[in-house]
Amino acid sequence: MNYRPIRTFVAVGPGVDVKRISALMPHAPEVDVVALVPSLAESWQTLQATQSDLLLVCTQDSEESVSFVRAAVAERPGRPVVALFEGSPNWFVGRLFEAGADDLVTIPTDLAGDSAVVRSAREQAVAHEVLFALQKAMARRQTAGGANATDHARMITVLGPKGGVGKTLTTASLAVSLAASGRRVVIVDLDLQFGDVGLSLGLAPGKTIDQLASSGGSLDADKAEDYLVTHEPSGAKVLLAPTRPDHASLVVVEFLRELYEVLTSSFEYVIIDTPPGFTPEVITSIDVSTDVCMIGMLDSLSLKNTKLGLETLDLMGYDPANVRLVLNRADSRVGITRDDVHAIVGRPPDVLVPSHRDIPRSVNQGVPLVLSDPKSEAARSFRQLAAVYDPEFESRSKGRGRRRLFGREKI
Ligand SMILES: Nc1ncnc2c1ncn2[C@@H]1O[C@H](COP(=O)(O)OP(=O)(O)O)[C@@H](O)[C@H]1O
Ligand SMILES: [Mg+2]
Repeated sequence: MNYRPIRTFVAVGPGVDVKRISALMPHAPEVDVVALVPSLAESWQTLQATQSDLLLVCTQDSEESVSFVRAAVAERPGRPVVALFEGSPNWFVGRLFEAGADDLVTIPTDLAGDSAVVRSAREQAVAHEVLFALQKAMARRQTAGGANATDHARMITVLGPKGGVGKTLTTASLAVSLAASGRRVVIVDLDLQFGDVGLSLGLAPGKTIDQLASSGGSLDADKAEDYLVTHEPSGAKVLLAPTRPDHASLVVVEFLRELYEVLTSSFEYVIIDTPPGFTPEVITSIDVSTDVCMIGMLDSLSLKNTKLGLETLDLMGYDPANVRLVLNRADSRVGITRDDVHAIVGRPPDVLVPSHRDIPRSVNQGVPLVLSDPKSEAARSFRQLAAVYDPEFESRSKGRGRRRLFGREKI
């Protein structure tokens, strides 16, 4: 996982001293306090408009705090809530957990009697405990499986050093495979000038990413949904690229950050198709992605470029453990072996996709090969890739894919 501080929204309940709370906040690079609001009513108003990963509610015994926690959890179930409780632990603690708090740290009512040195040491100890609680709450959400799958959304940025290597093909095939297995998947076509995800999936023209970016007002899941087009056979959603290259500049990185935040809270997989090269938009996407899927081709020039791409990711501090390497058009007859790839690129490929004569036609017809010829070796390779990103892919796909394909089952 790429490193990012926990953006923490601090809401301070009735009777709790804001100054005291700020002294207890961890001053660590792992935490970014995005807001510290001295009243719950005011917190409620600002909470929706503030990008945060976690909510820290500071409270004494107060019904208002319990209602606040309950409402915040209902409003965004994927965001963990930690309570900082001032007072001696009593029945009230249980009520906070019932309302949906993930963790709780207690602080003694008053440290005023202590000497400055002792007070500072105790504050630091509490700050440590708070930091640990925040990290635990985040980690639990990220690793929790099951019902509320949006808590562990994977965002996969598909990269390739140049045009024509198969980025769009891979994006579409991966997205359709995961969606057909019942996963909630959205593709963002970030090839802002020449995006062709819509064409490759046979989608009718619809609303586009630049329209969403320039629509004004705040962005939430409902609004984003309104701009997505559905690939009916699989259920995958797509945010289409601008129809005109000159509209690309409307899509700025601040918008993208907000967009990804919204999409990762309502989809299980957010898959980003990109133009060649490390544009600012691509870099922003990599930064917030959980995974990068690098596409290369099996010739020495492409492999050299792929190596450069991987080195650039390294320089950006992106964890290599979250990078997968797909080699497209990987036919044995080109005379480069897996070992050669390892030697040139510095790592072995994760998935090899062979050339298939029907792929250009399937792209032109807008029916991905994973649907039109699921038994082909190329389709198998893309399913193998889907299984890399979803350990349950095989078991989920059994039967379901076919039903969905032919019966247009609505999930
Ligand atoms: N494995 C393959 N076998 C056959 N044709 C392929 C294969 N991969 C890509 N192509 C062809 O190359 C074209 C370019 O691929 P695309 O995914 O659009 O590349 P990119 O998005 O990297 O520019 C596709 O439209 C398709 O016709
Ligand atoms: Mg493309």
